[in-house]
Amino acid sequence: MTSATLRPASDYPPGGDAFRHRHLIGIAQLTPWEISYVLDAAEHWVDLNRSGAAKHDDALAGLTIINAFFENSTRTLLSFEIAGKRLGADVVNMHAAQSSVKKGETLIDTAMTLNAMRADAMVIRHHSSGAVQLIADKVDCPVLNAGDGRHEHPTQALLDALTIRRRLGRVEGLTIAICGDVLHSRVARSNILALTLLGNEVRIVAPPTLTPPAIDRMHVTTFTDMDEGIKDADVVMMLRLQNERMDGAYLPSAREYHALYGLTPTRLEKARPDAIVMHPGPMNRGVEIDSSVADDPVRSTITEQVEMGVAVRMACLDILTRRKRKVAGWA
Ligand code: CP
Repeated sequence: MTSATLRPASDYPPGGDAFRHRHLIGIAQLTPWEISYVLDAAEHWVDLNRSGAAKHDDALAGLTIINAFFENSTRTLLSFEIAGKRLGADVVNMHAAQSSVKKGETLIDTAMTLNAMRADAMVIRHHSSGAVQLIADKVDCPVLNAGDGRHEHPTQALLDALTIRRRLGRVEGLTIAICGDVLHSRVARSNILALTLLGNEVRIVAPPTLTPPAIDRMHVTTFTDMDEGIKDADVVMMLRLQNERMDGAYLPSAREYHALYGLTPTRLEKARPDAIVMHPGPMNRGVEIDSSVADDPVRSTITEQVEMGVAVRMACLDILTRRKRKVAGWA
């Protein structure tokens, strides 16, 4: 299901410049047509990645992309690296643990150091909300947010929207339950913004201790009972219990959490019979999700989400470096 889900170009604003941002900091800055524009662009890269072509593209040949990750990552870091390489860019990874950050260099000094190396785009993950915007304000190239604190993880929401659209044929008018540790989750925040903007009913299912206090302002319905929250849902999106951001005060035990909020085959029966199950990864198997659900070859989209991550990040890198390539006469 690819081209049938594409929105007509008439949905985009006139003038051909359907994505006007210099940086990708969050879904909060995007319009529905900008989201659709990225998703439509990503479809092309899905097809190319699946074709098995030895050579992918050289749209970004001659450009240098720096991935600066101040927090651990498997999916986001590697998929940005693969995305950049498949577009022909030179990709350099900076892992904070092996950098001069460990000697006490500040975030801004680090950013200015990378900027002096004349990167053409920077992809940043940082544990502090707002850190990526701070860097974007200082450097000369486009900056893509790969996750900042509890704030946003925009490419995760875009790849999730693409996965839903391809699996269910649309990403509007659906009932989507986002379940678990919403309080600590930038994935939840970006997905709430994207999925409500696209016209879906979004439900939040979480214990009161893991529900953000300002959730009422996000146009969602909140549930504390998991069975009620996922009833007749088209999409059940599970979130990782972020133990590293807790101090033991949020939950009595992982076992009790699983009993009340873990997604089991029996619990999933409350959702629509064709409901899909999503998880951004990494998973705590047996805590927020049972292995039999996570590995269900029909209903689970977890590996497809990873695949869509490469295509969405190719689209984002291509779109955000287009202006520079145009100025240089490369595009
Ligand atoms: N979903 C996600 O951001 O995974 P990583 O932390 O492995 O990048």
